[in-house]
Amino acid sequence: MSGSETDTNRNHHHNPLVSPHTAQRDLSPVGTEVVVGKMMAAKSMLAAIDKAEANLLNLLIVDDERVIRDGCRDVAASIGFTTFLADNAEHAFRVLDAHSVDVVLLDLRLPGLNGLEVLREVKRRRPETIVIVMTGFASVQSAVQAMKHGAYDYVTKPFNLEELRLILDRVLGHLQLTNENRILREQVKSKEGFGSIIGRSPEMEKLYRIISKAAHSTHPVLILGESGTGKELVARSIHYSGPFRDKPFIAVDCGSLVPSLIESELFGYVKGAFTGANKSKDGLLTVADGGTIFLDEIGELPVDLQAKLLRALQEKEIRPVGGTKPVPVDVRVLAATNRDLETAVQQGTFRRDLYFRLNVLSLRIPSLRQRKQDIPLLVGHFLERLARSTGVQRNISDEALKLMLNYDWPGNVRELENCIERACALSSGTTIHTGDLPTQIQNWKEQSNPTQVPCGARGIVPISEIEKRAILSAIDQLHGDKLEAARLLGIGKTTLYRKLKEYGTIQ
Ligand SMILES: Nc1ncnc2c1ncn2[C@@H]1O[C@H](COP(=O)(O)OP(=O)(O)OP(=O)(O)O)[C@@H](O)[C@H]1O
Ligand SMILES: [Mg+2]
Repeated sequence: MSGSETDTNRNHHHNPLVSPHTAQRDLSPVGTEVVVGKMMAAKSMLAAIDKAEANLLNLLIVDDERVIRDGCRDVAASIGFTTFLADNAEHAFRVLDAHSVDVVLLDLRLPGLNGLEVLREVKRRRPETIVIVMTGFASVQSAVQAMKHGAYDYVTKPFNLEELRLILDRVLGHLQLTNENRILREQVKSKEGFGSIIGRSPEMEKLYRIISKAAHSTHPVLILGESGTGKELVARSIHYSGPFRDKPFIAVDCGSLVPSLIESELFGYVKGAFTGANKSKDGLLTVADGGTIFLDEIGELPVDLQAKLLRALQEKEIRPVGGTKPVPVDVRVLAATNRDLETAVQQGTFRRDLYFRLNVLSLRIPSLRQRKQDIPLLVGHFLERLARSTGVQRNISDEALKLMLNYDWPGNVRELENCIERACALSSGTTIHTGDLPTQIQNWKEQSNPTQVPCGARGIVPISEIEKRAILSAIDQLHGDKLEAARLLGIGKTTLYRKLKEYGTIQ
């Protein structure tokens, strides 16, 4: 390809030299309005959009097929990127050396060099660049590899241009977030001791932003999310990214303790408070003094203890069981639940005043089915973690990964984690095949086929119904072994029993 095809697109659209305070700005490129419409709400997005509008964001398209290059260029340019084109790796490297490229759209199947090698080289030359790889549908596996090597996202060919536009819209948002929160995000991600939160979907980027904010305040935070979405992980990261990271982080599972125990665990007791209390013991609220207490499954806290907890939070002092003297405590409270607390408040099972007290800040962790694009990344993460502990590096077949991408994951990340661990234990070689996956994943397609199962209004199955089916069919397949079912579904056994009770399956 000739050098003349390196197209900065400047002439196709508004003049980047137009001064930013020109009253009538040229918003003519179609895509710009799409982006603005979608993202205007967040004021912070404006800088990225401005940058894109002014054609300051550079995007390089590397593909040996001219139609693809041209199609991608039109979409990228309509959003406002300045585009560069290259039909081979060498040419791409030259562009990278000469221009500050923000985004690369990279075909993984280029003649000559292997696509992954090109990716590695791009990352070596410009580590900050966002790379989106394009790959044939038959080789999703290579996309997984690419994600492991730092690609931001992938599209499978053939893709339609609308799909590409959505991805590029997301990239714009991402570029903005990255600028704004780079430092804070680094803190969230690099802190050792609580494991890293995996995910690069826009939903997760949003979450990182809120975590950063929450970490630097001392207000209570209510962490909402389905079972297995990472509520505890998020709670830890809020604590460990904040100023009190050197103080204790104490997690209490209100769902698994019997009520009388919760009280003495949380508030402590004095000697002689009850039979067996031979000496006094500090409550966890006291142990966590100066740090964070994480009240998991807060929705399960009995009403009388809710009152006691509220008092403790308001007065910053607690009364140990059997004690008369208040003990001062200064502790930050994080609470989590997968229950709908608002409904619980309406039904009178959760105190409204405590709800307001805990809900000063709230964040909702997206379910895995809302961020399926993170699945390859999570699979890679868990495979790598297992490889470190077992010494065997396994990978996953395209077919198996496809099944995982289709599945609905009622148990979210925990279910996926268990699924990978189980598959590794079952697989005889170093590749995980479809047969190594749990049957509910293998059979998912048929189950979700709308002709075979009754659906809700307009053919949409409510998530609760999907969850119910997954739970009941797991128990059925395991011949009634509920503990094993809970483990494989990736939910706690208390959760499982509660659900079964809701379904009326057990009393
Ligand atoms: N984004 C993520 N990246 C990596 N691992 C994750 C992520 N989210 C969850 N996990 C892992 O999934 C498992 C479940 O996470 P966690 O216990 O935090 O979920 P939870 O929301 O508290 O679940 P539950 O409601 O069942 O208590 C953990 O092993 C955790 O490390
Ligand atoms: Mg939990």
